[in-house]
Amino acid sequence: PDAASASCCWIGVAGLTLLAVGVYSARNATGVAARYIEARLGKPSLVRETSRITVTEAIKHPIKMTRRLMSKPQDALEGVVLSPSLEERVRDIAIATRNTRQNRGLYRNILMYGPPGTGKTLFAKKLAVHSGMDYAIMTGGDVAPMGRDGVTAMHKVFDWAGTSRRGLLLFVDEADAFLRKRATEKISEDLRATLNAFLYRTGEQSNKFMLVLASNQPEQFDWAINDRIDEIVNFALPGPEERERLVRLYFDRYVLEPATGGRQRLKLAQFDYGKKCSEIAKRTEGMSGREISKLGVAWQAAAYSSEDGVLTEAMIDARVDDAVRQHMQKMDWLQDTEGITMSPSHQGAAAGKGAKMGFIVPQDAPPPALEVLSPLQERCPAPDSTIAPGEGGSAAEKETVPFAGEDQQTGEKDGPPRGGTPV
Ligand SMILES: Nc1ncnc2c1ncn2[C@@H]1O[C@H](COP(=O)(O)OP(=O)(O)OP(=O)(O)O)[C@@H](O)[C@H]1O
Ligand SMILES: [Mg+2]
Repeated sequence: PDAASASCCWIGVAGLTLLAVGVYSARNATGVAARYIEARLGKPSLVRETSRITVTEAIKHPIKMTRRLMSKPQDALEGVVLSPSLEERVRDIAIATRNTRQNRGLYRNILMYGPPGTGKTLFAKKLAVHSGMDYAIMTGGDVAPMGRDGVTAMHKVFDWAGTSRRGLLLFVDEADAFLRKRATEKISEDLRATLNAFLYRTGEQSNKFMLVLASNQPEQFDWAINDRIDEIVNFALPGPEERERLVRLYFDRYVLEPATGGRQRLKLAQFDYGKKCSEIAKRTEGMSGREISKLGVAWQAAAYSSEDGVLTEAMIDARVDDAVRQHMQKMDWLQDTEGITMSPSHQGAAAGKGAKMGFIVPQDAPPPALEVLSPLQERCPAPDSTIAPGEGGSAAEKETVPFAGEDQQTGEKDGPPRGGTPV
């Protein structure tokens, strides 16, 4: 009986081992197969980010993938704050793109230019999602370091774009980095060859992909690139009204929503939020959408780092002071390097120079620096003195005007996770 039970035991162990080996090798085999297919069909190395579902992604995150496949196209401009005229323009583009896809027409190529942080990338992604196309993001700066592999990589991008069933919106961010003039600029032989490959593949309008270029300095483009562009959109710095909408949007997203959401630690002192937002909008003149969104994150961080988690009016003001000061510093640097003068008497020159850099310093409003700086200088004499968060908080809390019936023009729900940084 002993021998019988021993052999029984043996068989059991052997069986289990075999099973383990089987499971293990099956898992490995799928991994290897996925990697093989990925290498064949997967995204080209030049593509940074794509909405196309790659094999490994689908295996790794099946639920996420299904959700994405089921999702309905959203409003192209949700959470993007633009001036009314620009909004109308880009809305037309969004509608035309969607219809082009549905009718299998030829896509139009778009160039978006403007100062940093004005919503170019944000809009391009929304446009792709809205139109129901796949999108792929390429960064111009990635091309040059590829050296002589650049040409192959570029062809791979377009071959891959050709296999998309939904049509691909190919977004080239920081496009000036590689689409420079072939003749006058000093570009390497490899980069020239890559650019030629790009030109070859984009020579004719396509019903497979749509080219969206974003740049801060489009005047550096090769002429052949300009020739391929059907529509030019200028993303300018936000004006007073847009700033107010932006401040409200990010105040809502990073402060109000977490404060009313319940579970969060963030609490908000009582003051007139609407009035505060208007006031901040006035003080943030010259700031980009990105700078304003960062301000929102700064308020949230201030609340989380305070002892009681309460965000007071004084804390908000302190962050605004900081942001304004930093913005001034950046403008100083810009002035040093580019000769942009921000004083009213030089406004014309500034606009001219700014235009040369791919953007326009707003003309209608007085230049940001002086107007914002003078009240600031009165308040904080030393340039590097910081206002401690929480200072004067009690005074602020005394005001008890609730935030009721404010005209909410914006209010995006699908923003980045609270506490995270903006995309
Ligand atoms: N018009 C806008 N409306 C709403 N949010 C904006 C807007 N512009 C910028 N933002 C905020 O700033 C972030 C960065 O903007 P985005 O990446 O679109 O800038 P960009 O124009 O592509 O800048 P860059 O030239 O530096 O690439 C966005 O994710 C968003 O949070
Ligand atoms: Mg960008």
